[in-house]
This record gives sequence, C-alpha cells and structure tokens, in this order.
Amino acid sequence: MKQGLFEIKENIRIAPDMYEMALQGDISAITVPGQFVNIALDGFYLRRPISVHDVDRSLGILRIIYKAVGKGTDAMACMTPGGMLDVLTGLGNGFDIQRAGENTLVIGGGAGAPPMFWTAKALRDSGRNVTAVLGFNTAKEVILQQKFEAAGIPVVITTADGSAGIKGFVTAALAALPAPDYTFSCGPEPMLRAVYDATACGGQFSFEERMGCGFGACMGCSCETKYGTKRICKDGPVLEKEEIRW
Ligand SMILES: Cc1cc2nc3c(=O)[nH]c(=O)nc-3n(C[C@H](O)[C@H](O)[C@H](O)COP(=O)(O)OP(=O)(O)OC[C@H]3O[C@@H](n4cnc5c(N)ncnc54)[C@H](O)[C@@H]3O)c2cc1C
Ligand code: FES
Repeated sequence: MKQGLFEIKENIRIAPDMYEMALQGDISAITVPGQFVNIALDGFYLRRPISVHDVDRSLGILRIIYKAVGKGTDAMACMTPGGMLDVLTGLGNGFDIQRAGENTLVIGGGAGAPPMFWTAKALRDSGRNVTAVLGFNTAKEVILQQKFEAAGIPVVITTADGSAGIKGFVTAALAALPAPDYTFSCGPEPMLRAVYDATACGGQFSFEERMGCGFGACMGCSCETKYGTKRICKDGPVLEKEEIRW
C-alpha cells in the first residue's frame, strides 16, 4: 500500500451518473488488475474505494470509473482537471490471472464492469482467448463496449430491459455462449451469485462490499469463507469460487 497525491488530468461523464477520471501520480504500488484505490475527500471521514479501471505506466496514469451514488461520489463528479487527490494505492489482492484457462470469460455488471477492462487486457496479453460479458439495466447505461472492441476483446452486452444486446442479466449471455473454462467477475452480489450458480468451471469473484478503513485494520468488512473469516479489503476483494460461502 502506498499513499500519494494524484493530479486530476480528466474527469468526464461517460453515461448518466457514470464518470471516468484519469489521475497522474505514483502508480508503482498498483500491480495486478482487480486491485482498488481508496480516495480521501475533503469533508468526509472515510475514504471512498474505487477499482482500478486501467493504468498507463509510461505516463503514470491511473484510470477509475465511478457511479455517482451519494455525497462522496457526487463531490468527485464535480472535480476538475488540475485538482489534487490523496489516494491510497495498491489495495486488495486483485485477480490471479495465472489460474485462467484457455477460454476465459470476464463478467462485469454495472459499476463492476470497469475493473474487467484491465483484467481482460492482461488475459489477452497472456495469450488466453478472452470474451467480455457486460450487463447493465438499460442501453443508456452501457459503457466500455467500444473500448473492449478497440482492444480486440469480443464483448457481449446484456440489458435487463432488452434495449441493447441480449435481454436479461449476464447469465442470459452465459446461456448463449460456449461454456468457458474459467471466469473472472465483478458486480453486485446477486450477479456474482447468479454467475457462480450458472457456471460449472472455476472462477474468481470480486466483492465490492462496503468498507471502513480499506486496509485491514477495522474488521468492518469481515466475511465468512470456507477457509475462515476474511477481510474483503485486505484478503479480497477477490475470492476464489471454491472458498465462497454465500
Ligand atoms: C473494493 C471496492 C471497489 C469499488 N469499485 C467501484 C468502482 O470501480 N466504481 C464504482 O462506481 N463504485 C465502486 N465501489 C463502490 C463505491 O466505493 C461506493 O459507491 C462509494 O464509496 C459510495 O460513496 P458515496 O459517498 O458517494 O455514497 P454514500 O453516501 O456512502 O452511499 C450512497 C449510496 O450508495 C450505496 N453504497 C455505498 N457504498 C457502496 C458500495 N461499496 N457498494 C454498493 N453501494 C454502495 C449506499 O448503500 C447508499 O445507498 C467499490 C467499492 C469497493 C468496496
Ligand atoms: S474495511 Fe477495515 S478491515 Fe476491511
């Protein structure tokens, strides 16, 4: 874990209530996809955890995509380039892509889609066949489709109301695709549970639970696994399929 000051280089609205922020600073502690950063905001006691969407090592740029859902993220949405943010980086275990198979699915739902981009690129770069399944409520909320396609990663979109892609939840796409031999998923817990139940193969699941300290000190994010109690912020947010106790 590293604490650093980051300069906001960009903060743009990419969909209703969704923003992409580029931050420049020391990103050396960010080592694997699926990790998160914890952002201090003026006037808020607790930092706000946001997954790493992408990194550009040559420019020292960290990208995050966040949904404005409350006072903290609303405040972030109003920030402008040139502002500075105090950010804890290198948090969480991240995805272990070495465990992936030859035909891997990355699955993201809503605000859980952003971390799957760097994850998919890392899998692509390691020679795996990777397809992305991204689920949203409606067409207006769809993000990242072009970005995945531009990176050469096939992407299947689902929307709950059928206004874009396959109608239904991400599991509707799973039913339409060849069975994968491994999955990496991030999204709301009901989505993770549905993917868990719908797939026979192994996988890793990123839980974006509510957090306190974000670095293992307060036990506020403890959960029971088959291998004992784990702190989602430090021992997770990624859990292996075989250890999850719902
Ligand atoms: C490891 C991790 C990674 C995350 N990555 C992302 C990300 O990449 N993009 C993104 O948009 N969000 C992400 N989140 C969720 C994000 O941290 C919260 O949405 C944010 O902290 C809310 O702050 P707020 O002050 O705006 O809202 P608050 O005022 O604290 O809460 C407003 C509303 O949001 C809900 N909420 C608060 N925290 C969460 C949460 N963790 N999950 C779901 N709902 C929540 C509350 O129940 C409440 O209804 C992540 C959370 C964790 C733990
Ligand atoms: S949030 Fe404090 S231990 Fe996880």
